[in-house]
Amino acid sequence: MTDRPAIRTPEPVRNPFYDDETWWRHGIVYQIYPRSFADSDGDGTGDLPGIESKLGYLGELGVDAIWLSPIYPSPGRDVGYDVSDHTAVDPLFGSEADFDRLVESAHRRGIRVILDLVMNHTSDMHPWFQASRASRDGPYADWYLWRDPSGIDDDGRPLPPNNWLSWFGGPAWEWDPRRQQFYMHTFLVEQPELNWRNPAVEAAQFDMVRGWLARGVDGFRLDVFNAFLKHPELLANPEIEGATLWARQRHLYDRDQPDFPDLIGRFRAILDDRPGRMSVGELFASEAERAVALTTDRHMVFDWALLAAPWSAATYGDAIWLRETMFGDDRWLANVLSNHDQSRHASRLASSAGLADTDAVARAAAVVLLTIRGTPFMYYGEEIGLRDVQVPEDEIIDPPARRALVDPDFQWWNRDGCRSPMPWTSGPGYGFTSGRPWLRFGDDADARNVASQDSDPRSVLATYRRLIELRRKSEAVRSGTLRVVETGTPDVLAWTREVPGERLVVVVNFADASRTTRAAVDGAATYRPLAGSHLDPSAPTRDGDLTLRALEAVVLHVD
Ligand code: GLC
Repeated sequence: MTDRPAIRTPEPVRNPFYDDETWWRHGIVYQIYPRSFADSDGDGTGDLPGIESKLGYLGELGVDAIWLSPIYPSPGRDVGYDVSDHTAVDPLFGSEADFDRLVESAHRRGIRVILDLVMNHTSDMHPWFQASRASRDGPYADWYLWRDPSGIDDDGRPLPPNNWLSWFGGPAWEWDPRRQQFYMHTFLVEQPELNWRNPAVEAAQFDMVRGWLARGVDGFRLDVFNAFLKHPELLANPEIEGATLWARQRHLYDRDQPDFPDLIGRFRAILDDRPGRMSVGELFASEAERAVALTTDRHMVFDWALLAAPWSAATYGDAIWLRETMFGDDRWLANVLSNHDQSRHASRLASSAGLADTDAVARAAAVVLLTIRGTPFMYYGEEIGLRDVQVPEDEIIDPPARRALVDPDFQWWNRDGCRSPMPWTSGPGYGFTSGRPWLRFGDDADARNVASQDSDPRSVLATYRRLIELRRKSEAVRSGTLRVVETGTPDVLAWTREVPGERLVVVVNFADASRTTRAAVDGAATYRPLAGSHLDPSAPTRDGDLTLRALEAVVLHVD
């Protein structure tokens, strides 16, 4: 007898859209901050094998793709967004083989893998920058934005080339004594800006993109993508009135250049060589109009109109209507309430409306996120209603937050608050680590964790599961047209979702007290509740009167 190779029985592909090229329009993307998701080796930092061990959980939840915040080698000055090698995996997170196994295991479960591409800048430790700063005429001399001083001040110090500012505080120009020139950085001094007008930079970046695609990656989130190109002559920005130093400039020349859509077209062409590859750009410090202009039929853009809205029927109604009107039928929306840069929405929305019950807000907000038109992007932990964690000053890691402690001209919130580790169970380490976590947990982690919510049908987690199930079943929720409906009831917002043969109405009560409204979008119809923020969604009476409990949101089928 000869040994026969082991036959691996593939696990069933749960995701019904996996083989569909337009999966990203139907599906849900789940953002993982790798440091904080699951730690397999007890060093206190999450890692790739940890993520792999949670794919079963993610499959059950019903997400279609995971987006990993940067996993590349990095000195960690901007917690991974300062990349020193875009083509490799940081040993902190695991090996190259761990990454390939994660992709394979995810695919076996029907889950796609999206990488975060930080292509606007590199770490100052990147070999390209090391070579660039070493010589003014070497092969990498022109890979970054180097300029001579605009003059010398009275003390003999070189003056920066123009008035551009860093988003992370201070000027955008750093003097390099070796090269005797300034280099530009929109973020930290340790994040020098690449010169995308140099064709060699574009070629190198696109080769890197092809390399990840060849390893089975399904798409990319592009970090601050509208900042890649600057004005070729690096003109000074006009000065205007504004509340902060940053707001006192019109950012005409340090981002959003007219030739940028061509660059994105060239990037998209690489993805289009393979079917079903998705991309989403992170709009940096710009208005929704820019997001619309940069969205194409296969490329999405995060705009911030929804994320910036405080919790009220009026602001949500405006944001949903504005986005529908601006994006129109041809451009697909990327919907997001939380990410690794913003206060978590359970905390943010509850406090914006003076509400104490963050879970109730999280459940109602889940109905909004999962039933408006577009692709929902979830941020790990929102499905258990995770809240911002209060980090004491002496534990702050987020670099701009540390600067804000000492620079009176610079305001910032501490992004550590939304990056705390995922509590999976109660008890020491909370099922995240057997060691000391890199960042503290919230005080509520013993009560608020995946295990405690798993078996509670009224939990935030159970609510997400029911709504995601509804999305999978309902063509109208995934792709139907959206029309905002005038309810005439203060605090109550409603919209319809419709495809031929299926019509739904979503009604959300933003108030912390019950409200009675009319469900009627069609006088003769009857309404059947399908799901909502509560386990037992309220139903309209025969006359079409609908009484919603405090912070209740329902999805009704119109028969
Ligand atoms: C993006 C990232 C943020 C990072 C910055 C600089 O805005 O989301 O976390 O600090 O880019 O890379």
